[in-house]
Amino acid sequence: MRVLVTGGTGYIGSNTVVKLIEYGYDVIVVDNFSNSKPIILEKIKKITGKDVKFYEIDLCDKKKLEKVFKENKIDAVIHFAGYKAVGESVANPLKYYRNNIDSTISLLELMVKYGVKKIVFSSSATVYGDPEELPIKETSKLNVTNPYGATKLYIEGILKDLYISDNEFRIVVLRYFNPVGCDETGLLGEDPNGIPNNLMPYIVKVANKELPCLNIFGNDYDTVDGTGVRDYIHVIDLAIGHVKALEFLDKNAKMEYYNLGTGRGYSVLEMVNAFQKINNVKVPYKFASRRDGDIAICYADTSKAKRDLNWQVKYELNDMVKSAYDYISKNKEK
Ligand code: WQD
Repeated sequence: MRVLVTGGTGYIGSNTVVKLIEYGYDVIVVDNFSNSKPIILEKIKKITGKDVKFYEIDLCDKKKLEKVFKENKIDAVIHFAGYKAVGESVANPLKYYRNNIDSTISLLELMVKYGVKKIVFSSSATVYGDPEELPIKETSKLNVTNPYGATKLYIEGILKDLYISDNEFRIVVLRYFNPVGCDETGLLGEDPNGIPNNLMPYIVKVANKELPCLNIFGNDYDTVDGTGVRDYIHVIDLAIGHVKALEFLDKNAKMEYYNLGTGRGYSVLEMVNAFQKINNVKVPYKFASRRDGDIAICYADTSKAKRDLNWQVKYELNDMVKSAYDYISKNKEK
C-alpha cells in the first residue's frame, strides 16, 4: 500500500515514515522544511536503507501538490503538515488559519479528485482545552483555548462534514498528548528550529549546556508537586499508533477518533528528576510564573485505542528521558 505522508520530515512524521517502511508500506513524503531539515531524509535512508520519494512542496500550493497525485497512485494519506506552536498562534492567528486550514482543504480536494479515500489526521489533545474530567475520553468536552488548537478542531469538523458527504471516506483522527523521546538509532529526535517551546527539547538543550537553565512555568498548580502534569508518550509508540490506524482503515469504513497517550501523567519536576537520574546529568532549573494558556493537568483514557487499534504503548518514562538525551550523543556531527 502506498501512503502519502505530509510533514514527513518533521519529528513525529519522520518517525512514522520509518515505521511505515518497516511495516512494508511504500511511502511518499511532502514537506517544505518549515520546521525540519533536509538531513532528515538522509537519516530515514540510513535507518531503513530506503530512499523515500520526496517532494519539497508547500501544501498550500495546490498546483504543485496535484503533481504528486498525478505522478503516484496513492492509497492513503497521513496528514501531519501544519504549524504547531501555541504561543505563536496567539500572536499570529491568521498565519495559522491560512496555513493549517488552507493546506488541508487543498489536500482533501485533491484526494476527492483522485479517489483517495483513506486519511489519518494528526490532531492534538489541545482540542480538549482545560479538561472537565480526567482521564480524558474521546467523548470528553471539546474546548479550544488558542488558534492552533482551533485549527485542529476546525479540521476535525471539515473531515466530519466530508465523511457525511461521502462515507466511502475512511477517516481516523488521532489526538496526541505529549510526544517525547527519540527512535532507537538516536537519529530522529525532537530538534525544533530555534528556542524550543516544549519541555523535553528544552531540558535536553539545558543538559547539553546549549541553554543555561530551565524555567519551570508555575509551581502553584493543584498537582502532586505544584508543577504541570502531562501525559508524555514515546514518539515510537505514537508512530506505531499511525500504522495501527492505517490497518484499522483497511478493515473499517468509518470515521473514528482516538487519544494517543499512555494514560499516566507526570509533573514537570518528575520529568526533570527522571531525566537527571537516568542520564546522570544536571538540569539546572528555577521556578517562574505560569505560562499563559497552560492548564494544570492533562492525561488520556487510552482504552478506546487499545480496543479498536490493538495498540498498546511499550515505552516507560525512563525510556523516554534516556532516548531524548541519546539524541545529543548520537548527533554530535548534526
Ligand atoms: C509541558 C509542561 C509547561 C516548557 C503543547 C501543545 C500541544 C502539543 C504538545 C502540538 C507544561 C511545562 C514547558 C518550559 C515548562 N503540541 N514547561 N518549561 O503545553 O502540554 O502541549 O505541546 O500538538 O498542542 O499545547 O507541552 O512541552 O510546552 O509543556 O515548565 O520551558 O511543561 O508549563 O506544564 P504542552 P509543553
